[in-house]
Amino acid sequence: MSQLKPILSHLDPIIPSSTGKFKSAPYAFHRVRFHPRLTLWSFLLLFFVLLLFFCSPPAASPAGKRRSLHTLSPNWEIKARNSAKGGGLTVLVTGAAGFVGTHVAMALKKRGDGVVGLDNFNSYYETGLKKARKSLLERQGVFIIEGDINDGSLLAKLFEIVHFSHVMHLAAQAGVRYAMQNPNSYIHSNIKGFVSLLEACKNANPQPSIVWASSSSVYGLNSKVPFSEKDRTDQPASLYAATKKAGEEIAHTYNHIYGLSITGLRFFTVYGPWGRPDMAYYFFTKDILRGKEIKIFQGAARDFTYIDDVVKGCLAALDTAKKSTGSSSGGAKRGAAQLRIYNLGNTSPVPVGKLVSILEKLLEVKARKKVLQMPRNGDVLFTHANVSLARKEIGYNPTVDLETGLARFVKWYVSYYASKKKTV
Ligand SMILES: NC(=O)c1ccc[n+]([C@@H]2O[C@H](COP(=O)([O-])OP(=O)(O)OC[C@H]3O[C@@H](n4cnc5c(N)ncnc54)[C@H](O)[C@@H]3O)[C@@H](O)[C@H]2O)c1
Ligand SMILES: *[C@@H]1O[C@H](CO)[C@@H](O)[C@H](O)[C@H]1NC(C)=O
Repeated sequence: MSQLKPILSHLDPIIPSSTGKFKSAPYAFHRVRFHPRLTLWSFLLLFFVLLLFFCSPPAASPAGKRRSLHTLSPNWEIKARNSAKGGGLTVLVTGAAGFVGTHVAMALKKRGDGVVGLDNFNSYYETGLKKARKSLLERQGVFIIEGDINDGSLLAKLFEIVHFSHVMHLAAQAGVRYAMQNPNSYIHSNIKGFVSLLEACKNANPQPSIVWASSSSVYGLNSKVPFSEKDRTDQPASLYAATKKAGEEIAHTYNHIYGLSITGLRFFTVYGPWGRPDMAYYFFTKDILRGKEIKIFQGAARDFTYIDDVVKGCLAALDTAKKSTGSSSGGAKRGAAQLRIYNLGNTSPVPVGKLVSILEKLLEVKARKKVLQMPRNGDVLFTHANVSLARKEIGYNPTVDLETGLARFVKWYVSYYASKKKTV
């Protein structure tokens, strides 16, 4: 998952080239002011600048907000109302076109809860995969609104239309290494976006209970294993980790002042069908199949957690969440509200070399491997979850081992890309 990508990535860091190259432009402009060809060129330049501006990924700038207003489908209010119908909980799932969001939304719908999704479909990884997950959910009767969590007026309207009992907040800028390329996308989604969502929840009547995804990356340079919830989390090794840690502190504030019931879940390297292409198990599979060399970082190990186990943990957190205690009018709380944090891991770290040998066996292809020292680019060497607290308080019990989980992933991967080839 997020922390994995960098560790195992075969991609070298891509540093955007500096804009300093354009510094001689103003002088040229003065010398040949009204030359017709030059005017044409400046128009062309302006055109490209505007084009770049409007095409930049929504997660990277407030452009996401503007876009969501235009891309809302015509009957979105009716569709949202219908999607929210159900016998049990009524849940807003943010990041519903994402890997974990799709699985959680599906599981909720299948057991009879009302579910509405929200996602900005940003292009951090192939949007085709997000669209395919969206169709999958549509067939189950789950509607995903295309919008950004920073769009306060959209959220206010949505909470007016549907009285959500719960919010499952999974929208985020994930990935560790990408933070060196696009730091602002992490601030936009994981900090600004989270505050925007909490504001909407605080103002909603009734106030929903919130469950959201933090990350095992908050343990950062912590060297005590296994990682327990009480261990220190003040030494993040990446901006991604820092924004997740900030989220935990922001959650504390909204719980303390406004009485929002909030549960944070620290996921440990989640993998499985419909997974994330930026994660090692996913791009290793792709590269092994096309004979491309893969880079393995020496000593790296991960507590890989199968998606179905994580989904069960998410549902257990929703089911055990107490009600928020604030009032939407004055914002004052009637009493202390619930604030929880749990590790959701598998409790058995696996060396990355072992991950690769399982994939080789499943794919029946030998990988071309290169073993390297881990670069210091935001990733941690090792993760290992202590899940006793989640086990005790919400009945969390991971059961799927890496061989079994990867077999299911590979089966999905092969059939997904085979059917894509047929339709393209
Ligand atoms: N997969 C893992 O191993 C892992 C590990 C630790 C934490 N997490 C966290 O779990 C959550 C889900 O992760 P995932 O693996 O499904 O990632 P994902 O990238 O597949 O899903 C996140 C979704 O959120 C959407 N999104 C991003 N910014 C948004 C915004 N501003 N407004 C609306 N939508 C937005 C994206 O389009 C994407 O579809 C994230 O919060 C992630 O940080 C995941
Ligand atoms: C695991 O966490 C629990 C509390 O959640 C703690 O009591 C226990 O000591 C931890 N175990 C280890 C081995 O760190």
